[in-house]
Order: sequence, then C-alpha cells, then structure tokens
Amino acid sequence: MSRLPLVCANWKMNHTASEAARFADDFVSRMAAHRDALNESVEIAIAPAHPALDRLGRSLSDSEIHLAAQNLHAEESGALTGEVSLSMLVDLGCRYALIGHSERRQLFGETNEDVAAKALRLQGSAVRPILCVGETLEERESGATLEVVDGQLSAVLDVADGLASDLVVAYEPVWAIGTGRTATPDVAQEVHAALRKVLSKRLGAGADQIRILYGGSVKPSNAGELLSQPDIDGALGGGASLDPEAFASIVLASLEPS
Ligand code: PGA
Repeated sequence: MSRLPLVCANWKMNHTASEAARFADDFVSRMAAHRDALNESVEIAIAPAHPALDRLGRSLSDSEIHLAAQNLHAEESGALTGEVSLSMLVDLGCRYALIGHSERRQLFGETNEDVAAKALRLQGSAVRPILCVGETLEERESGATLEVVDGQLSAVLDVADGLASDLVVAYEPVWAIGTGRTATPDVAQEVHAALRKVLSKRLGAGADQIRILYGGSVKPSNAGELLSQPDIDGALGGGASLDPEAFASIVLASLEPS
C-alpha cells in the first residue's frame, strides 16, 4: 500500500503575517523547479500562527501547498474569548489542523478528551486532523511509550470513529521536540509500526491508508533516513521549517528517502 507522504511545517508562535508572505515567496520559488515531481510524490502543508493564515493562504493560492492550522476549539461558536472555530478555518481554506500537539497538552492542559472532542468536530469536514501523539522522556524511560501513544490514539478513535483515511497521525516524542535530539529511524519505526497495529485493530484494512508522520527535531540531515522507514509517511517539522531553504530540503528529502 503506498501512501502519499505529507510534510508539514509547524511554525508554532513564530513568523508574523508579513514574514509568512516572504517565506511563501521564497519557498514557492525553490519548489518551482521540482513542481511535477512534487505533485505526484509528496503533499506539503504549512501551519502558521492563526494571524498569518489569511496572508499565507493568499500567498500560496497559486501553488499546491496546503494551509494548516495549529489548533482549533471543539465548539462551533460562542463566548470563548481567544479561540478559533472550525468554520473560521474552513473559510480560510485550511486543509489540515494539528490537534493534541504536546505543547498544547503540556503547557495548556489539554487532555485526551479535549483532543477527541476536536477530532469529532473535524470529522466529515473539509479540514483533516493531524493528531499528535508522543511520550515524555520519563514515560520512555519507564517503558510506557507504547501504552501512552496507544492511549492518546485510542481516545480519539473511541469518539471520532468515522475519520478513516482523513486522519493523519504524527508521532512526536516529547523528548525530541525542539531539543535537537531526534529519535533514531529504528526507534521511530518501532512506534510507528505499533501505532499502525492499533489503527488496524480498530479500522481494519483502512489503516493502511492512514499516514503516520514523524516529528521531533527533523532537519535536512536526518529527514531522508527517517522517511525511508516503512511506516514513516512524512514529517512534521518545527524549528527547521521556519527557514525556507531548510524546509525545502526536508521536502526534497522525502522524494528520495535514503
Ligand atoms: P521541532 O518541533 O522540529 O522544533 O522539534 C516539532 C514539532 O513540535 O512539531
């Protein structure tokens, strides 16, 4: 089963709308030479901070590059100061939304139940969830990695059981995020294969179509090796994706996994 790899940038709280537009001009021109190869071989998405979504979306409108949101609220509207709804993201043309990023879980107290409610909101909509799962260093050292990621994934599948191939999963070990410490391809593949097993048990053959991305200090120098693993279907990049040249190299590495 071949899955179209997805390489997504997560800019976190970086890049203003003007900086996003400058990034887009630079990145799109770097990608132009590879356009035909890219269209058939990899999907690209960028998740800017919410204030840059509109401007970035306009800058990318002539390209095949998708817009992604970093977060949304599970409710559709209401007295929820500071929050952003699904219909707002649909209106801006978002194709993907990250849910359950470890920074949301750790710094903003999001629980598995909160993440599942967001997934349910996205189910059947034009915006596809990129569900982030991953263990802390403490959990890894105590041998709880698979239990933790299974729990995070199952909490979503229990509630949003109609997502099917619209679901994208991103395995992001918390100890590898922003630390420069990357999971080795073997360590990542082991978790990805375990996640695929959970998906198969729950969704049957449809699990083969679900992309599982790796995130955590992905850079041009390690992207090719990570993406050559059988169950790694793309990358979610943070720090390195802020620079158009580095992000372009990560995307190109997905074309020729080493
Ligand atoms: P990083 O972040 O690439 O800077 O480690 C990845 C992420 O948090 O999605």
